[in-house]
Amino acid sequence: MSIRKTPIAILISGRGSNMRSLIAACAEPDFPASVALVLSNKEDAAGLDYARSLGLPAEAVPHKAFGKDREAHERAIDARLREAGIEFVCLAGYMRLLTPFLTDAWAGRMINIHPSLLPVFPGTHTHERALEAGVRIHGCTVHHVTAGMDEGPIIAQAAVPVFPKKDSADDLAARVLVQEHVLYPAALKAVLGGNSDSVSSEDGLLVV
Ligand code: GAR
Repeated sequence: MSIRKTPIAILISGRGSNMRSLIAACAEPDFPASVALVLSNKEDAAGLDYARSLGLPAEAVPHKAFGKDREAHERAIDARLREAGIEFVCLAGYMRLLTPFLTDAWAGRMINIHPSLLPVFPGTHTHERALEAGVRIHGCTVHHVTAGMDEGPIIAQAAVPVFPKKDSADDLAARVLVQEHVLYPAALKAVLGGNSDSVSSEDGLLVV
């Protein structure tokens, strides 16, 4: 018996490596989601080309066209999501602060991946800040999206060690990214199944 796949959209701003991991997971017959749309706020996002190369609908809704009116941009995004029949949204390196318009419209149906162990290091430059702070454990978080930046309820986290004497920020980013690609599909599957506690601990994936 085939499972029902929830049609999801992935929102990106750049290279889209997390998008790739979600697309790969969704290609598995027993994964409970299918990628119905990829949207970017940037026309030149490399991830759009990759998604198109697989035949997936992938479009830009450039924020520049809306000037400073963030909500107008989000209304255009929201319209595309609804036209495409999207039921769940994954932010994957989508580097725009959202207004309550979009977070309220998709409350409980929008998740994000962030490259730190939230609530520490919200915002940008998380790996540099982890090194500066001298933490010995760093990682990534998948969380529900709410109006506050990187503040929504945590779904799952994966941790990696920090080697302060030899790590550069790039080294740390690469170590965390490997875990992001494992964590995001696992967290999405758990949320769609209605059970965040079902994220399994394997291959260095530490779920808190
Ligand atoms: C990822 O590390 C993701 O966690 C981060 O941007 C990168 C995007 O890479 N997101 C944030 O910082 C959101 N606050 P990708 O385009 O290769 O997935």
